[in-house]
Amino acid sequence: MFKTSILVLLSFLNLANSQNWIRSCYVYAGNEFPVSGIDSRLFTHLVCAFANINSSNYEIYIEPSDETFMATFTEIVTSKNPSAKTLLSIWAGKPHSPMFFDMTNSSMFFDMINSYSTFFGMINQLSHRTSFIRSAMMAARRHGFMGLDLSYVFLSTSANMANMGSFFDEWREAINSEPRKYDTAPLILTMGAMYSPVMDSLIYPVNDIKRNFDWVHVRSFDYHVSSKDRFTGAHAALYDPSSNLNTDYGINEWIRRGLPAKKLVIGLPYHGYAWTLVNSDDYAIGAPTNGMALTKDGSVSYRYIKGYLNSYGVKPLFNSTYVVNYCKIGSFWIGFDDVEAVKTKVSYAKEKGLLGYNVFQIPNDDTDWILSTTAQEEANNQENKQQLRVIVLSTTVAAMILVSATICFVKRKSIITRGKVAWSKRKKHTNQQGFTFAQIAAATDNFSSENKLGEGGFGPVYKGELQNGLQIAVKRLSKGSKQGIEELKNELALTARLQHVNLLKVLGICTEKEEQMLIYEYMPNGSLDNYLFDPVKRLCLDWQKRIQIIEGITQGLLYLQEYSVVTIIHRDLKASNILLDKEMKPKISDFGIAKVFEKDEYAASTRRIIGTYGYIPPEYVKGGIYSRKYDVYSFGVLLLQIISGKKTSSLYGLQKNLNLLEHAYELWKNDSSMDFMDPKLDDSSSTCKMKRCIQVALLCVQERWEDRPSMLEVSSMLKNEMENVPAPNMPAFSTCKRSEGEKICDLMEVCSASMLTITQEMPR
Ligand SMILES: *[C@@H]1O[C@H](CO)[C@@H](O)[C@H](O)[C@H]1NC(C)=O
Ligand SMILES: *[C@@H]1O[C@H](CO)[C@@H](O)[C@H](O)[C@H]1NC(C)=O
Ligand SMILES: *[C@@H]1O[C@H](CO)[C@@H](O)[C@H](O)[C@H]1NC(C)=O
Ligand SMILES: *[C@@H]1O[C@H](CO)[C@@H](O)[C@H](O)[C@H]1NC(C)=O
Ligand SMILES: *[C@@H]1O[C@H](CO)[C@@H](O)[C@H](O)[C@H]1NC(C)=O
Ligand SMILES: *[C@@H]1O[C@H](CO)[C@@H](O)[C@H](O)[C@H]1NC(C)=O
Repeated sequence: MFKTSILVLLSFLNLANSQNWIRSCYVYAGNEFPVSGIDSRLFTHLVCAFANINSSNYEIYIEPSDETFMATFTEIVTSKNPSAKTLLSIWAGKPHSPMFFDMTNSSMFFDMINSYSTFFGMINQLSHRTSFIRSAMMAARRHGFMGLDLSYVFLSTSANMANMGSFFDEWREAINSEPRKYDTAPLILTMGAMYSPVMDSLIYPVNDIKRNFDWVHVRSFDYHVSSKDRFTGAHAALYDPSSNLNTDYGINEWIRRGLPAKKLVIGLPYHGYAWTLVNSDDYAIGAPTNGMALTKDGSVSYRYIKGYLNSYGVKPLFNSTYVVNYCKIGSFWIGFDDVEAVKTKVSYAKEKGLLGYNVFQIPNDDTDWILSTTAQEEANNQENKQQLRVIVLSTTVAAMILVSATICFVKRKSIITRGKVAWSKRKKHTNQQGFTFAQIAAATDNFSSENKLGEGGFGPVYKGELQNGLQIAVKRLSKGSKQGIEELKNELALTARLQHVNLLKVLGICTEKEEQMLIYEYMPNGSLDNYLFDPVKRLCLDWQKRIQIIEGITQGLLYLQEYSVVTIIHRDLKASNILLDKEMKPKISDFGIAKVFEKDEYAASTRRIIGTYGYIPPEYVKGGIYSRKYDVYSFGVLLLQIISGKKTSSLYGLQKNLNLLEHAYELWKNDSSMDFMDPKLDDSSSTCKMKRCIQVALLCVQERWEDRPSMLEVSSMLKNEMENVPAPNMPAFSTCKRSEGEKICDLMEVCSASMLTITQEMPR
């Protein structure tokens, strides 16, 4: 009896130690983040997303553009973390079908089902199911994946659900009977499902899921999204006192309907949602809003949120009732999961006996992997606590055994949680639509001259109105413009991924009838240069408006430079590329010659010099070197123009021998920088802020790119009145001699000698 007790005790401890807590994450191919940049040691399972279902033969296929990503995924991930397991995720909806839907609105829900027609077409016929299963397993094995994930399975009619049960049984059967080499394990099989197994009268076949899947990733987020809800909401609320739309409710429902807790993996979103408040003083959870903010669908990555908050020096609040972090900046409200929310959720999952957590999606973590590290540490803390409990228990029991040397009861408490993986997908960020030639011709009155807004380097730009009343601008490429086609392609490729209120949206493209047209949102107030350099229109721009414009451009550039591991250099940032919407909010336009850089790739060399006179930094003019601070320089020039209303093409100073930058620098040095300001700005209450602006601008146009601040620093210096602004060095292109006596050629000379000026018109 004594021996048996000790054995039971030992095996008990052993089991507790070998529990496999699952730390899983999705990596979406549509993200520009390189797989090699992910710290895979923070995870036990990495899910590569997404393969699709072919609607004609029901086999799995990988889009050609994702082929390399998927084929190299496992090798790259395991080179850093040899014990990591990789899964190939199959998207059950139509390719690129929308991810957002209303979990409370069943008519919308039935709309969603239509995008699952291929999936249901597959599960409703045995031969289709067989094609799917065979091709999925082959795709996984071919690319070295160790498992398959089916995301994201949707609720449907009971007939469909019954077929789903057979389908799951067949899939499991195929996995179990797969001929394998002696050292390979059977494929792991997981499923992404809704946060709750029940909706209206529909329910998942819970028993079939339990029998066949290793675990389920619950989509415990996107409960409230800013593209839909007219109030601020905790989109991934762990609890909600007033509604069932919360994670705790969903998890309990899964367990109540028969899925064991140890088959459930909680979802951790690394994104939040931004709203525009109706009243910026009312920013509690549930406050009224005017819809979304910041991005096209209101969703914002944690990485971006963090940079955004830092640039304003704002710390988010935490609401423990819902378990959500949130913040308010001006009239923008963002709800998301920061460190506190992640900790609470991981500790909840541990206490509830769930299998682990799943991150959607890892590239959205910040550069230091703070959320992933927090989640891992919190899980370890909870594990240590549980082990401590086991040890205390076992010591007590051992003491009892020794003292009494009689019968001893060891209560078997199930604290064993075996680990597995996780869940979710978001729509590929493609905000572009194909338009027919007829649509565009109708919208622009057959490209009538009345609708012509201007003539750009590569063709005319027209104003138009679509049938639904939406105003557009159409850039129509002149036939045979080779350069134009290249830039148009570049613009399309880039803008598909860019979504920010301060970047001009490309709505779509029309390539019918040998036409090449880009369709943009229409900006009624034209471009900034029209206001800045016009003696009458300039009066519209008071100091408040100019500050609003400066802040908007800053936010747009911050987004381009900080929102992901890549940096986007716009390369031709100038007043005529800043377009103004009906509220005079600025949007950066024209990404035709923009370039994408890896974050740490600080410089690359080029032969061909493109750009616009006055805005190009010296390292590029002289050496063809791109630096990360390229646009910071252009921004500095732009800033000087916005506050002075002066052009770069004139000379200034008493002797009319100084370029714009030197002029600003001289005045600043003499402590008379107010003389630089646009004389139309007589707002004496803002003197301090104006001086600050000039100084920041001068920092941006310094000769050495290493000396220029980052956009994050610029944003912070402009915002925080308290922050110290360093003294700038002499600006680039100064005719004045440097201390060593080296003569640096002047701005005019350089420009006329080696620069090709592109004056590409943008839609107004
Ligand atoms: C789907 O299958 C059909 C028939 O085999 C094939 O012609 C087609 O190219 C496939 N589509 C994709 C996107 O793979
Ligand atoms: C539900 O969704 C449908 C279809 O999208 C929409 O027409 C309807 O207004 C929505 N109902 C509510 C109450 O939001
Ligand atoms: C969380 O927000 C709700 C709604 O605004 C509020 O009623 C509640 O008191 C807040 N809880 C905490 C702990 O701040
Ligand atoms: C545009 O041109 C087509 C054919 O040339 C013509 O049928 C149509 O009426 C025109 N539409 C407008 C709005 O002028
Ligand atoms: C900007 O455009 C709107 C809408 O067309 C117009 O009402 C407004 O007066 C314009 N603002 C300026 C400063 O021109
Ligand atoms: C700056 O001050 C110096 C000395 O007072 C003067 O010679 C110079 O003209 C001033 N420069 C400007 C741009 O006002």
